[in-house]
Amino acid sequence: MIIDPCELSPSYVRSIAPYQPGKPTSEVARELGLKEENIIKLASNENPRGLGPRTRAAIEGALGELARYPDGNGHDLKQALSRRYGVDMASIVLGNGSNDVLELVAHAFLGPGRASVYSQHCFAVYPLATQARGARGIPVPAKNFGHDLDAMASAIDDETYVVWVANPNNPTGTLLGSQELEAFVRKVPERVIVVIDEAYNEYLTPELKSDTLKWLKRHPNLVVTRTFSKAYGLAGLRVGYALAHPSVADIMNRVRQPFNVNNLALVAAAAALDDMEFVARSFAENLQGMRQIEEGAKKLGLDWIPSYGNFIALRVGKANEVFKRLLRRGVIVRPVAGYQLPEHLRVTIGTAAENERFLVALAASLKD
Ligand SMILES: Cc1ncc(COP(=O)(O)O)c(C=O)c1O
Repeated sequence: MIIDPCELSPSYVRSIAPYQPGKPTSEVARELGLKEENIIKLASNENPRGLGPRTRAAIEGALGELARYPDGNGHDLKQALSRRYGVDMASIVLGNGSNDVLELVAHAFLGPGRASVYSQHCFAVYPLATQARGARGIPVPAKNFGHDLDAMASAIDDETYVVWVANPNNPTGTLLGSQELEAFVRKVPERVIVVIDEAYNEYLTPELKSDTLKWLKRHPNLVVTRTFSKAYGLAGLRVGYALAHPSVADIMNRVRQPFNVNNLALVAAAAALDDMEFVARSFAENLQGMRQIEEGAKKLGLDWIPSYGNFIALRVGKANEVFKRLLRRGVIVRPVAGYQLPEHLRVTIGTAAENERFLVALAASLKD
């Protein structure tokens, strides 16, 4: 009998369920016969404000360089990050989005016979990256939709090499306080890598931010990941980074593709760090937008999970139905049944006009 060539792949790879990204506007336009310009996408936690001015200029200035390979070490971006955050360049790992650096952690520290611990309702990449390395995932039931750190610490077994914590978490938007998070990092054995994923860090008010970069000095097993995809508006260019002990960064760099971050992404990200006004405006408008959606949800009699990111999970009941009705009205949001939240829809905070349009469409979709 002729075998299906997919059978040649290890069983742990074959059993991976594909990641479900937010629907692109072009696909929704095609499927529903809508005009693309009439569709709004609030499904992937992107920045609705586009790019900062310095970033745009840097990208335009780098177009002539595209026939060349990028700097495989990302020197200029690492230098900019090193100056901004006071970390050694040897402590920085650059990635094709922070998704890439999460994969590098799994590649470097997981494999068959090893395990990683993560929370229920966690970012999908943690279980995916774990499974793709043939390692065992240890999901831990959530507490109030967020991480139950005591239960996570207890779930660490002899085979556990990585524990993943997103702060704030996606898709729930829950936040852990600095003290409880630091106590957790202290409690985890040194032989276990602790990943603190801070993809939404720039949306936090200063007093809510944990001083994770300071903790790096005391905890060589700590990896902090961040991204340019959210507040910096560069989701389409794919650039993120990890900050870690130089030995950890070194091992992650060994399993990295030599040119994993492209030319445009490198120059754009370095410039984006200087687009401080743009990031400040993104932060402020996001807070206003969050209040706008919360007030709208309240008027509709809906419940939600209080969120610290640029998105919010609203409890709408039959979420998949409401999702489809919103789609027909040209509004794309994210169903999160795959995250064990079948009654919620995750909505990215858009511009004030997008939020208003979403709320009007939601009111109608709840009545249909
Ligand atoms: C918690 C979290 N971590 C990491 C990422 C990955 O983002 P990127 O690969 O664009 O940096 C996301 C994206 O939505 C996220 O929500």
